[in-house]
Amino acid sequence: MLDSTAEAELAAVCDIDGERAGALAAGTGARTYLDWRDLLDREDLGALIVCTPPTSHREPVTAALSRGLPVYLEKPIARTLEDAAEIVAAAEHTGTVCAVGYQWHALDLLDDLPGLLGSQQVGLLVGTSIGPTQPRPWFVDMRAGGGNLLERGSHHLDLVRAVAGEVVTVQAAASRVRLAGASESGDIDDALTIMLELASGALATVVVAWTRPGQPGSYGLDIIATEATLRLGLDPDFTLSGVSGGQPVSRRAGSHPFERSVRRFLQAAAGRDPAAVACAPPDAAATLAVAVAAEQALATSRAVKVEA
Ligand SMILES: NC(=O)c1ccc[n+]([C@@H]2O[C@H](COP(=O)([O-])OP(=O)(O)OC[C@H]3O[C@@H](n4cnc5c(N)ncnc54)[C@H](O)[C@@H]3O)[C@@H](O)[C@H]2O)c1
Repeated sequence: MLDSTAEAELAAVCDIDGERAGALAAGTGARTYLDWRDLLDREDLGALIVCTPPTSHREPVTAALSRGLPVYLEKPIARTLEDAAEIVAAAEHTGTVCAVGYQWHALDLLDDLPGLLGSQQVGLLVGTSIGPTQPRPWFVDMRAGGGNLLERGSHHLDLVRAVAGEVVTVQAAASRVRLAGASESGDIDDALTIMLELASGALATVVVAWTRPGQPGSYGLDIIATEATLRLGLDPDFTLSGVSGGQPVSRRAGSHPFERSVRRFLQAAAGRDPAAVACAPPDAAATLAVAVAAEQALATSRAVKVEA
């Protein structure tokens, strides 16, 4: 994450697995820890990156924020709405900079959309997140990681909200086919469709499929408006193409959204400006509320209202 960022260097690494901490620190001169509390007590850091599994986000993040230490927290904000609310409250009470790593939220092409769409109404969004990924133990355990819905689908839920506003109601269904194979060690769905009704009246679908190693990926968002048909291409290239108001659109991102997300965080931390991050905790908590509603929709086969 920090390889491409000249403004920061790795000072220390913590992992309950000492080998993994050592591997990450190797060659950097960074000190290693097995307990994040020791790291916070002994190090004089400028910022902290929290990239533990979702059930282990709340404690290190709230502890760091209460010390005034800026935090870049990997998405999702947390596994539960309760943990998310504590992180939001800690960021608010301490006024410490905290960014959540929904990197597509930092895509510069999103800044072009208001100008391209003008007063048009967006009617439909279609997001696809199809491709292989690593079967980490917490990821294949629905209770621990929220499966493909939270781990992968929530990137798109966040993107839909960033492009077209708040979600009111969610429906969802999962395929019974084991596409990925590797999921047999766990209890998560490999392929699912989430349908979102937005406050604007627009509709969105998000399709997630975990496929086998070697299968090609397909990541994108189609945006259909009254006089526009646009496609945001996502990963590995970030592009915006199509037609709006009769004019062809063909643009390429000026920088990788991940780099931009981290750079905006570092600038926000340097300027002590919590509002300058690409995705702040309240925004990521709102995305989690949509994901939690989708999880309930999957479990009940009913439309579920999103908790405000
Ligand atoms: N933004 C993205 O595109 C993106 C991509 C992948 C993962 N992520 C997010 O990053 C986070 C981690 O994912 P990953 O794929 O790196 O998982 P991982 O399982 O590969 O790594 C997590 C590490 O955290 C360590 N760990 C667990 N509990 C800990 C604790 N209490 N203290 C210290 N270390 C602890 C584990 O030993 C492991 O080495 C998740 O929240 C995931 O959603 C984001």
